[in-house]
Amino acid sequence: MAEEFTVTPWEVTGDIDYDLLQQRFGTTPIDDALLARLSGYGELHPMLRRGIFYSHRDMGALLDDYDKGKRFWLYTGRGPSGRTHLGHLMPWIFNKWVQDTFGADMLFQMTDDEKFLFKDLTLHDTASFAYENALDFAALGFDPEKTRILVDTKNVNLLYPIALKVSKKVTFSTAKAVFGFDNSTNIGQIFFTTMQAAPAFLPTEINGEETPVLIPCGIDQDPHFRVCRDVAPGLGYPKPRMMYCKMFPGLSGADKMSSSDENATIYTTDTPKQVKKKVGRAFTGGKVSVEEQRREGGNPEVCAVFKYCFYMFEGDDRRIEEMAARCRAGEVLCGECKQCLTEKINAFLEKHQARREEAREVVGQMAMNGFEW
Ligand code: TRP
Repeated sequence: MAEEFTVTPWEVTGDIDYDLLQQRFGTTPIDDALLARLSGYGELHPMLRRGIFYSHRDMGALLDDYDKGKRFWLYTGRGPSGRTHLGHLMPWIFNKWVQDTFGADMLFQMTDDEKFLFKDLTLHDTASFAYENALDFAALGFDPEKTRILVDTKNVNLLYPIALKVSKKVTFSTAKAVFGFDNSTNIGQIFFTTMQAAPAFLPTEINGEETPVLIPCGIDQDPHFRVCRDVAPGLGYPKPRMMYCKMFPGLSGADKMSSSDENATIYTTDTPKQVKKKVGRAFTGGKVSVEEQRREGGNPEVCAVFKYCFYMFEGDDRRIEEMAARCRAGEVLCGECKQCLTEKINAFLEKHQARREEAREVVGQMAMNGFEW
């Protein structure tokens, strides 16, 4: 029997069955035909080849428009509720690939309002996390000419008129059905989905004509965008196109890396020593003794160390297959893999942390309408 799992924009728990989730949400698999079509625009990102970005809405229509010369905008976002960890970077890295491949303008929304409303945080807290998170976003090398960061409380003048239009089309009964709200929900939370919908329609407002938007993000955000897509035609906006990824796993073997488990979470500002310690404690698919592992082999399927390589830290498909095969054959022990992953993460973070410092200049340029951070 399948285990229970929950995936909402605010809670991800249990053993996620991604096929079942896709079925429940009504999204479409990114199948071989779509991958073949996408490969016509540039070499496929490993996250596509490996089924990490695995589900979509209306990608066919997006590419049809693109082929006719109609450029789309990218939109994704971050709720600034804490420091940035590796799991947050994953979809952003993918967005960067889309920007480079299709030359897209990009909006990055920081929903400080959301985190204020849903968590025990002050607006002061969310403002400082927003700045810290923006540094990580900008450090990934988005084109500063083509990329704008929106912070909800700072860009409310742009977003509020659109959010109002959306809110007039969404009943309380819909919000309850989609998000599970009840009478104890504060009224800001009920309104919030309209703010996350707004950037999907902003490019059309900016350009003064229907402009397609693609939103690559974690599949946990789909409830927002179902509502957003439903109201779009009635407001004269194109429905946003979606590409969804799986959740980045935790080092503990959990399906999603989460800040609630500090020791199983690698932050972008971690030191090499912290990384070594955390990876050292990671959940693996190893056996109880060296002898047994040499004899019977390990299980990469459940191994967090292997998953990290698969999701983000080993882009070479041959090397990934080799890693799994050698593990199953008992040729490598967990200590070696942990050492290897530690080196890869530390090499990545060393560069990232340097770019993150440089990004202090760039985030000013990226601030939508030049707001003060
Ligand atoms: N709600 C998202 C979060 O909590 C942040 C967000 C805002 C977002 N707009 C988005 C995520 C668009 C993906 C796509 O992290």
